[in-house]
Amino acid sequence: MRTRILRVDPRRPQIQKIREAARLVKNGSVVAFPTETVYGLGADALNASAVRKIFVAKGRPSDNPLIVHISDEGDLAKLAVDIPNVMKKISRRFWPGPLTVVLKKSKMVPKITTGGLDTVAIRMPESLIATLLIREAHTPIAAPSANYFGRPSPTTAEHVLEDMDGRIGLILDGGSTKIGIESTVIDLTAKTPILLRPGGVSVEQLQKELGKIKIHPVLRGKKAKIVYRSPGMKYKHYSPDAQVILVEGSESKVSQKMIRLTRELKKQQKRVGIVCITKARYNADAIKIVGPSYQKFAASLFGVFREFDSKKIDVILVQAVPKRGIGLGIMNRLEKAAYKKIRAR
Ligand code: TXA
Ligand code: MG
Repeated sequence: MRTRILRVDPRRPQIQKIREAARLVKNGSVVAFPTETVYGLGADALNASAVRKIFVAKGRPSDNPLIVHISDEGDLAKLAVDIPNVMKKISRRFWPGPLTVVLKKSKMVPKITTGGLDTVAIRMPESLIATLLIREAHTPIAAPSANYFGRPSPTTAEHVLEDMDGRIGLILDGGSTKIGIESTVIDLTAKTPILLRPGGVSVEQLQKELGKIKIHPVLRGKKAKIVYRSPGMKYKHYSPDAQVILVEGSESKVSQKMIRLTRELKKQQKRVGIVCITKARYNADAIKIVGPSYQKFAASLFGVFREFDSKKIDVILVQAVPKRGIGLGIMNRLEKAAYKKIRAR
């Protein structure tokens, strides 16, 4: 299969290009498209054979459910049942945007879309291209991140092409995504909402709106004996080929530690890459400054992993950030990618 790239203006998407992609979706094909978080690999969420193509293209295990993207709040009632009252508050405050809710699914949603679960994950993206694509396809669009299984999520059309060339027919190229890490996922099927994945919407924002929310034990580092509510949690994710070492501690201690580590690793003939928030005199093979804001860190993170892999970096030293705001989502991705975590003293 030849993979075509169609450049679309993210601010004023050309409707004929959107319609071309929508036609493919309607006909049961898979199309990659940008959202405000990361690129998605989309197909008609209500068409089982179309959804199966996503799992094949992505190399994803079939028990890992997909997020269903909608453009209109009215679609919620078609896809989900037993919708709790709190959903009104959530959609008013956070939609369209980087928040995914897990609800009990309706009969309309095929089991393959939800990985066999009786719940469905739903999100209304903010990106204009995504919104128009869903609207023009006249169907909700199931879409995981558009990376090959286990690879860092794509934040540009070039990243999608790296993983999906020859595997899908079309990529809508809307430039770099704004947020850079995936949406926050919360489960609304229990009495108290449960955070399943930290992301674009922070826990603090959710608490402010909803009061109490539970943090899933896996996110607090618990491994044993828990029932996985979100199958995605059990898979290793977001890994570059390089070994990632996460360095925690105060700004100055971290940079001293990274300078020493670089020296040691260079002695072992390793190619070293550094991801840090502020400048220091590193003697590394590649350096990426991702600050000063954590928003910028999130937006650059997955792209840096891919860039360092293409530079044949062996070890990536990454400065840890506080687990607050978007920092919780950043650290969740980093801890999943990390081969080890050390504290600088
Ligand atoms: O920002 C995003 O959410 C992006 C863009 C494309 O919208 N999508 C994305 O999808 O990150 P994906 O498939 O890479 O991650 C979806 C996560 C997985 O961890 C999956 O296990 C979880 O959501 N999930 C999906 N359906 C679920 C369900 N019914 N119950 C619990 N977790 C679910
Ligand atoms: Mg993903």
